[in-house]
Amino acid sequence: MKILVVGGGGREHATLKSLVGEGRQFYCAPGNAGIANIASCVDIKVSDIQGIVDFAAKEKMDLVIVSQDEPLVLGMVDALQAAGIRAFGPDKAAAVIEGSKAFSKNLMKKYGIPTAAYETFTDSTRAVEYVKQQGKYPVVIKASGLALGKGVIIAEDFARAQKAIVDMLDNSKFGESGSEIVIEEFLQGTEVSVLAFTDGNCLRPMISSKDHKRAFDGDKGLNTGGMGVIAPNPAYTPEVEKQAMEQIFIPTIKAMKAEGRTFKGVLYFGLMITADGPKVIEYNCRLGDPEAQVCLSLLKTDLLTIMNAVIDEKLSDVTVENEDGAAIIVMMCSGGYPENYQKGKEISGLDEKGQNRAFDYVFHSGTAKKDGKYTTNGGRVLGFMCKGKDIKRAQDKVYGAIDTVSFENSFYRSDIGGKR
Ligand code: AMP
Ligand code: GLY
Repeated sequence: MKILVVGGGGREHATLKSLVGEGRQFYCAPGNAGIANIASCVDIKVSDIQGIVDFAAKEKMDLVIVSQDEPLVLGMVDALQAAGIRAFGPDKAAAVIEGSKAFSKNLMKKYGIPTAAYETFTDSTRAVEYVKQQGKYPVVIKASGLALGKGVIIAEDFARAQKAIVDMLDNSKFGESGSEIVIEEFLQGTEVSVLAFTDGNCLRPMISSKDHKRAFDGDKGLNTGGMGVIAPNPAYTPEVEKQAMEQIFIPTIKAMKAEGRTFKGVLYFGLMITADGPKVIEYNCRLGDPEAQVCLSLLKTDLLTIMNAVIDEKLSDVTVENEDGAAIIVMMCSGGYPENYQKGKEISGLDEKGQNRAFDYVFHSGTAKKDGKYTTNGGRVLGFMCKGKDIKRAQDKVYGAIDTVSFENSFYRSDIGGKR
């Protein structure tokens, strides 16, 4: 069986690692140096829909897994299916749940799904007027479209809110993505990520997790794609889980179906647990990165079985089981990330497979290979994953070993999972 994964980061490395099994042969576009130990990497851009369709057709892929937001929002799954190729991931109509925050906010309003109060705007004068009228800070300003996790500004005062609005709507800071904005109420509480498989009718959540989005210890610095994750999330109690399932998860897949946008794939719920119960901060139309690296590491059920059940709309026949215990991932990044950083630094502390036995697994996010040596090739470079009976033990293991790997100007957060 030939399987192609579209993407090239830690999430795709984790997906491929979980799929490994007898009789399965893997390809990844574009992949990276760590992924190359599992799959044949092919140099096709994730946004090159025709390129992927042509390659998958020529190589007779049995399954293509579209893993990143951009190709999903652009309609890669639709194009693959139109060419008769089996594909995992939501189609374009469903991926809009991530591709347009204006769409997802309006969906939640229409179907009574708890989320922060909001308004959408395309005109900066009206948006500024609205913020002034509300007079409540901080206020959250979001570019409606995809912005690599950077299109969210939490403005502490009027001046900063006004600047964010003008930057997005008038100065095109996020290009087309910011031509429409959402202004919403700042929610107080604890964040939880829940990644769930769904075939449009049935929904099976993976283990809960907690991302750490800010660049530096103590939640300081800019928002990033994610500096580390723990699973399970201690704040996700059985009571919150029940509320989330009844008030958010099931209503969301029903709403999408009612809108003629049946969602099939992985739906990511970014939740805030507030004093009034869980509320949606955001939806993503795919596995999170680095959430996938811990959630998939704790998944006991065969991932391919689940993916096939999603595609065939038979997910209710499958139970999704997790290992007991906890897992942690800590990302090692290039100095300067999430802004400017250098690439091409030699990495020390990895064996020829790009691994290091002190960890349960090393997921590669942004690596290349030069003269047989692993080098940095992105802002987020490596993710070190350890498991333990509980989070504390997983945390001790990862931080006990992390300094055995390094490269010039590398940095990581030393408080993933809480201060030690
Ligand atoms: P997003 O890209 O929508 O996940 O937003 C990035 C981060 O901004 C989230 O993980 C939250 O930490 C924060 N955030 C977004 N919206 C809100 C909100 N309404 N209230 C509080 N924090 C928020
Ligand atoms: N780690 C957050 C995301 O994948 O969007």
